[in-house]
This record gives sequence, C-alpha cells and structure tokens, in this order.
Amino acid sequence: MEATQQQQLAKRELRDVLGTFATGVTIVTAWDEGANAPVGVTASSFNSVSLDPPLVLWSVGKQALSADVLTTNERFAIHVLNAEQTDLANRFAKSGTDKFGPTDYARDTNGVPVLPDFASRFDCQLEAVHKGGDHLIIVGRVMSIERGGGEPLVFHDGGFATAVPLELLAELKRGA
Ligand SMILES: Cc1cc2nc3c(=O)[nH]c(=O)nc-3n(C[C@H](O)[C@H](O)[C@H](O)COP(=O)(O)O)c2cc1C
Repeated sequence: MEATQQQQLAKRELRDVLGTFATGVTIVTAWDEGANAPVGVTASSFNSVSLDPPLVLWSVGKQALSADVLTTNERFAIHVLNAEQTDLANRFAKSGTDKFGPTDYARDTNGVPVLPDFASRFDCQLEAVHKGGDHLIIVGRVMSIERGGGEPLVFHDGGFATAVPLELLAELKRGA
C-alpha cells in the first residue's frame, strides 16, 4: 500500500474513532464586511475553556471559504442547536452554498447575524487564534448569552441524535 493510501486510511480511521466522542452541534456566524453578507458554518468542535474569564473555543478548517472572516472578525455568535434543527445543521455544513435565506437572520447591535432559534447562543469577541494543523483554533470571550429551548442536538458516530436520560433508556429497553 502506498504511503498516501495509508495516510488516507489513518485519517478515515481517526475520524471514525473520533466519532465515538459525542458532541453538541453549533452554527457559528459572523458578518463579512467585504462581501456585505453573513457567513456561517456548522461546527461540532465547540467547547468551554474558562469560566473566569468566560472563554469558549471552536476550530475552523483552513479550507473553509469563511475561515478568513471567522478568524479575523472581532465579533461572532455561536448558536448551540436543538434537535429540531438538523436541516439547518446540514444546510450550514455545505461549503460555498447560499446558507442564509433573507429572513433567516437578524443583525444584532454589533452587526453579527443571529439566527432566530437555538438551544443557546454565545455572543463572542475574538480573544485569540491558534494554529492547529489543518484547522485554526478560535478562542472567544463570551460577552453575552441567550437561552433558547428544545432537546439537545447531538452528533455521534457520523449521525445526528439526541440525549435520552439513562433511566428512560432503561425503561424503553424493559418495554421492548
Ligand atoms: C456535524 C458537523 C460538524 C462540523 N464541525 C465542523 C467544525 O467544527 N469545524 C469546521 O471547520 N467544519 C466543521 N464541519 C464542516 C463545515 O460545516 C463545512 O465545511 C462548512 O460549511 C464550510 O463552509 P464554507 O466553506 O462555506 O465556509 C462540520 C460539519 C458537520 C456536518
């Protein structure tokens, strides 16, 4: 097997095994001043970093068309999605497509495009950008938070799911 084939296999296996780590799903948005248009990507790399100061992180692939805007814009919003929002998650995962319909967002007081529905939203100021291989790690300082609603959207094993309390799962199994 050629080295490149082995590397591809290793990459696929790494991605598959990383899929055993269940995450939430977010959409990160910012305003592209140059294009005078919103940008947004689906991202499962979101995580908490620090409570004091309040910091969160996510990472963007360098190949993403909106990577430049998302790593230089002073302000951005991270929307944690609920289980009703799989269509939106899929739409914002398609690179280079027109992701926003005209009525899909409003601009907040900082000009950031924000979505109407979410489980929660973190309004962030860019704190730092770190190198991370083929990704850039973006650290955001949380300036304000909004609570939405719904069941959590979970990404696991390459597919969408939601969180079921273990007691309920046990009941379901007993009933099956
Ligand atoms: C569930 C899921 C999670 C994803 N997580 C990330 C992520 O954390 N970082 C990232 O750069 N891309 C992630 N992607 C892929 C991006 O959403 C996709 O490459 C993005 O739409 C690129 O947009 P753009 O090229 O138009 O900027 C994820 C896709 C899916 C379906």
